[in-house]
Amino acid sequence: MPPTPSEEEAFLALEQTIERLADIRCSCYKPDYIRRRILSRMRVTRQESFCQYHDFLRTHPAEIDDLKNALTINVTSFYRDPEVFRVLENEVIPDLLSRKRRIHLWCAGCSSGEEAYSLAMILYDLLLLYPDASGLIYASDIDEEILVRAKTGIYEEKSLENLTSSQIRRHFTRLENGRFEVQPHLKSLVRFRKHDLMTDAPVARFLDMITCRNVTIYFTESQKNDLTHVFHAALGSEGFYVTGKTEYLGREVEKLFSPLHLGEKIYRKK
Ligand SMILES: C[S@@+](CC[C@H](N)C(=O)[O-])C[C@H]1O[C@@H](n2cnc3c(N)ncnc32)[C@H](O)[C@@H]1O
Repeated sequence: MPPTPSEEEAFLALEQTIERLADIRCSCYKPDYIRRRILSRMRVTRQESFCQYHDFLRTHPAEIDDLKNALTINVTSFYRDPEVFRVLENEVIPDLLSRKRRIHLWCAGCSSGEEAYSLAMILYDLLLLYPDASGLIYASDIDEEILVRAKTGIYEEKSLENLTSSQIRRHFTRLENGRFEVQPHLKSLVRFRKHDLMTDAPVARFLDMITCRNVTIYFTESQKNDLTHVFHAALGSEGFYVTGKTEYLGREVEKLFSPLHLGEKIYRKK
C-alpha cells in the first residue's frame, strides 16, 4: 500500500487542485486564510482530513462553488448596494427615530465593519435632526480576526469610493500612511462582538432593525429559515429586516414579514 501523505503534503496537493478546479490563485492569499476557509468547509461537509476533503472536492462539483464562496466570504464595502442605504437613510431610520427615543440596530455578519460604519454615518447624521433620540448598532461576525480589523476601523482610500467627499471629511481622519481611520464619534455608535449566527442567541431583544446581508448564501435552506425565525423573534414590533440584494426569504418564512421595498430586500415584521 502506498504511504498516506502527511497532512502538509495533503494540503499542498489540495491547493493545487483548488487552483485547477476553482480557478483560485491560492498563492495570492495568506496561507493561513486559505487554510482557515478550507477547515471551515471541512467542518460543514464533515470531512476529517485534507486528504478526505480533497477526494470530496473532486467528486462533488457543487463543493467547488461553495469553496469559492467560502474563500471570498469577507468581501464587503462601504455603502455596498448604495440604493439600499438611500432607502434606510430617507425612510427606514427616520421612521424609527420618529417613533422611538432610542433605537437598536444589529448588523449581523458585519465582516471588516464597512456596513456597520455606513449605518453609523446615517444614524449619526439623523440624530442631529432628532436631538432627543439616541441609537446603538450591534455589529457581529463569526470571524474574530476580521472583527479586530473592524474595531480598528482603518481602511484603504480605495475602499471609500462609494462615499461622498463630505462623508469622508466629516467621519474619517487621514493617517500619515495614506489610510483613513473612522472617527471616534462613529466608533462610539457601534459595538462589535463575536457571534455565530448558526448557534448563538440573538445579541439583543426588541431590536428595531436587523441587517444580515450576503451572509446566509452559504447556509442550507433549513438553516436560513431557522435564522429568519430567530431574527423575527429578536425584532420588536414592526422592526425591519434587511437581506442582501441577491437573497430571498424562503416560502416557509416569507409570511413573517411584509415587503417594504422588495427590490432593496427591506422587510417589516408582521
Ligand atoms: C460577504 S461578508 C458580508 C459582509 C456585509 N454584511 C456585506 O454585505 O457587505 C459575510 C460575512 O459573514 C460572516 N459569517 C459567515 N458565517 C457566519 C456565521 N455563522 N455567523 C456569523 N457570521 C458569519 C463571514 O465571516 C463574513 O464576514
